[in-house]
Amino acid sequence: MTNNLRTGREETERLLGEASGTTEFELLGLEWTLLPGVFAPFHSPSTSHYSQWLPYPAGGALLEMGCGAGVTAVYGALRGCTAVTAVDIVPAAVDNARRNAERHGVADRVRALESDMFRALDPGERYDLVFWNSNAIEAPADFVYTQDLEHSVLDRGYESHRAYLREAPRHLTDTGRLFIGFNSRGDLDHLQRIADEEGLRLQKINSTNHEFPDRVVEFRLFEIVRGAS
Ligand SMILES: C[S@@+](CC[C@H](N)C(=O)[O-])C[C@H]1O[C@@H](n2cnc3c(N)ncnc32)[C@H](O)[C@@H]1O
Repeated sequence: MTNNLRTGREETERLLGEASGTTEFELLGLEWTLLPGVFAPFHSPSTSHYSQWLPYPAGGALLEMGCGAGVTAVYGALRGCTAVTAVDIVPAAVDNARRNAERHGVADRVRALESDMFRALDPGERYDLVFWNSNAIEAPADFVYTQDLEHSVLDRGYESHRAYLREAPRHLTDTGRLFIGFNSRGDLDHLQRIADEEGLRLQKINSTNHEFPDRVVEFRLFEIVRGAS
């Protein structure tokens, strides 16, 4: 087993253990619903920090890729985005985001869809802000997902990261902005190589370190912009 895969498996086990039996949590001063198999935003400070760091376009359109429980999507709607799309490859996450949108009275502004990256979206859909808190650990190309939560931690062959960098720019408005939350368990060199191939550059916007029992992880928000690095 590669080191990455071992780290990913350990991380998945940690998430499963921490979330076991939890159906409600508090974050950003609000109460949220959590469904089984969905990334719980209390596993790390990532969701909370990214949700607060993003420059939500007031009156604009937000796409949250890999929405999990839908915290960032709902928070964006509460902060003034008028058209929010929340997508996830895991059906339970889509259901979870929908429930949290209803819970916070923004179901009229938040659409939740099951999708592998951009596949379920109309090719003509454009957003003012696109964001993904990614599953940063690269799994081998022959990895087979057996549990929903593995999608929160492991990306097989960085397929989803490649698709995100290739396709997200096509879904931006003329002034639209693209972001990724990418933690230090991920392979930044590999992400940068993909960005180079797509003619894109990563600019660190903000970061925070968090101490886990076994290591310190840096949670970093990057803006992805056109141009060579
Ligand atoms: C680290 S979790 C973040 C969840 C949520 N955004 C949050 O911050 O609490 C990554 C999310 O991306 C989703 N995901 C992974 N691969 C995906 C893909 N190819 N298409 C859509 N969603 C994906 C996972 O299911 C998971 O919900």
